Amino acid sequence: MKKLLLFLITIHLSLFSFAGEGMWIPMLLQKYNIEEMQSMGFKLTAEDIYSINKASMKDAVMIFGGGCTGELISDQGLIITNHHCGFSSIQSHSSVEHDYLTDGFWAMSKEDELPNPGLTVTFLKYMKDVTDSVLNGVDESMTMNERGKLIKQNIKKIEEEAIKNTHYTAVVKPFFHGNQYLLFVNEVYKDVRLVGAPPSAIGDFGGDTDNWMWPRHTGDFSLFRIYADKDNKPAEYSPDNQPFKPKKHFPVSLKGIQEGDFTMVFGYPGSTDQYVPSFHLKMLTETVYPPLIEMRTKKLEIMNRYMNQDPAVRIQYAAKNARVANSWKRWRGEIRGLKKLNAIEKKENYQAQFQKWAQQDKERDKKYGNLLDHFQTLYQKMGDVKLARDLLLEVNFRNGVEIAQLASMFSPLADAFEKEEVDPEEITELKETVKTNVQDFFKDYHQPLDQELTSQILKIYREKVKPEFLPPIYTLIDKKYKGNYNKYTENLFQKTHFINEQVTIDWIDAFTAKSIKKLKKDPAWELYDSFIRTYRKIYSQYQSLSLTNDSLDRIYMQGQMAFGADRVFYPDANFTLRVTYGQVKGYEPRDAVQYHYLTTIEGIMEKDNPDIYDYKVPEKLKELYRNKDFGRYGQNGSLPVCFIATNHTTGGNSGSPVINAEGHLIGVNFDRAWEGVMSDLMFNPEQSRNISLDIRYALFVIDKFAGAGYLLDEMTLVE
Ligand code: ARG
Ligand code: GLU
Repeated sequence: MKKLLLFLITIHLSLFSFAGEGMWIPMLLQKYNIEEMQSMGFKLTAEDIYSINKASMKDAVMIFGGGCTGELISDQGLIITNHHCGFSSIQSHSSVEHDYLTDGFWAMSKEDELPNPGLTVTFLKYMKDVTDSVLNGVDESMTMNERGKLIKQNIKKIEEEAIKNTHYTAVVKPFFHGNQYLLFVNEVYKDVRLVGAPPSAIGDFGGDTDNWMWPRHTGDFSLFRIYADKDNKPAEYSPDNQPFKPKKHFPVSLKGIQEGDFTMVFGYPGSTDQYVPSFHLKMLTETVYPPLIEMRTKKLEIMNRYMNQDPAVRIQYAAKNARVANSWKRWRGEIRGLKKLNAIEKKENYQAQFQKWAQQDKERDKKYGNLLDHFQTLYQKMGDVKLARDLLLEVNFRNGVEIAQLASMFSPLADAFEKEEVDPEEITELKETVKTNVQDFFKDYHQPLDQELTSQILKIYREKVKPEFLPPIYTLIDKKYKGNYNKYTENLFQKTHFINEQVTIDWIDAFTAKSIKKLKKDPAWELYDSFIRTYRKIYSQYQSLSLTNDSLDRIYMQGQMAFGADRVFYPDANFTLRVTYGQVKGYEPRDAVQYHYLTTIEGIMEKDNPDIYDYKVPEKLKELYRNKDFGRYGQNGSLPVCFIATNHTTGGNSGSPVINAEGHLIGVNFDRAWEGVMSDLMFNPEQSRNISLDIRYALFVIDKFAGAGYLLDEMTLVE
């Protein structure tokens, strides 16, 4: 009998296992998960990953900043995360004399480490299922609004209660579309210092050309250190703070990886939509993404042209360009990947079965029988509204019309003067803040680029949205400028008061209540204001549709779980700590093309091209390569750089530890391969791969390239 059982389990595992799909809650890892992980080679237990009784891996993983993951790699608070996660900190310390982005930065002793005001890291102390308390008093007869209000109140109480008399923070988050709620109690450290970063030519090697792509050769890492007060507790920056002494840090493995090896990624995936109906995919791929892509294609075309003409503009717009390009490239990948998967058809077939199942039983029919019809009706409206909302954000924010952004910086100033009682002290302070913002703005601003971009994206917006979503400014463009966008923008940029930094700063200095009239007549302000008013209207429509959608999603999720009672469900990503496991594995991106799982320094040298900004290899790296000076980090006469595996990851997982069967660090997650990025909506085990930096490349760069080998002394290296 036992043998039969074992046999059945083995069959079950060989049918379903190693797919890599799933982002699991560490506290709720199921027997199924652990068994599967162990059958794939994992040598540790669920307690080693998450425990509240002893030090576990969760004590070495953190939210880094606002949207990334990081992990501890020494008992002195040393953190490794991605270069692109540390980017803004590295940039903030950079100037013409110390250009750390270009040259890299290495603190040669703890005294040289650089503080980063505002940068925090967040550790999870514990999590707890609080579903009953959150839903306390909620009943099915309530309206959506009543339900929402009560849940909000309950959550507030739970959060307050959880951290009473502690220095912790708390947050309750919904899972499975509001069918489960978990409380997270966190500890936030505030003194986080920059320890090291390679030059961008390593940390962002390949730039946007290689972004989202395999084969990849990016050394995407940076090092930071947490400091704590004398009791090892969080404290604001102080020179007296001491390096944080953690309960747990990851040993770093030099043993390398083979195809088929077990990998686990432990971090903070941001958001996914695995359980939405087919209409959602249709909306994204047919209605929303194509116009968004078109608008960003235009933005990038203009930016790239100006950047190629002028190195100064290249620096000014590098980060902006990267931001625009990132989702632009992912959206295209998602459309392609979903199509290749026949994702819409798959969902439609599933829905047909679901519908049949629902109608087989009276109770079920009552609960779920009309659900898909409701969804369909809702998504018919949702598409247009979502498109208008997203496109409007593309125009007025998100590296759209920059001069409108500049004008909007005056908004708090106008508000302050419009108050009944004007507080001079507040005004002085406000003026200083606005000035700083304005100075930051002009540092990275190229007016001719903005003018051309404005004209083009205003045109695209008009072409793509329903007339009801057009801001009133279009009436002016039609009447006064006969629909000629170039003429309109030309006039705007001629007449506006925001012509350069000095004039703008002078205007702030001179700003009084009387200036408000002039501000509101400024064509840049008019444009901004016209769009923002329309945005508010669109937003309230969008919110109310979203609320209905949430409520349908919640019932649909319930239904799917009841329908597929023997299927294993994992909750969508919601920027909470998750375990995902898989194995090192290549893939076939296109017919007859096979991708290897590992890249090496040979590939960096192949890409080397002094004429292409993204592919300029630092001289020092070439020298190390020529001398084959790879030390103990090399393998078979070469040096590993990046590898791919089947872990189910998404945005937010950047910087996450990639862990081997022994629980040792073998890599740092930083991207996904383009052919598989639809995994946010539907995972494809054949195509979905996470991309990680091989930790040996990071160690090589620290030791051999940067000469900061002393940092390795504090790590626990496993050779
Ligand atoms: N694609 C990765 C992510 O989604 C990395 C982007 C940063 N690097 C870049 N060259 N743009 O965030
Ligand atoms: N680069 C992404 C991040 O910043 C990770 C890539 C992904 O979306 O999986 O989190």
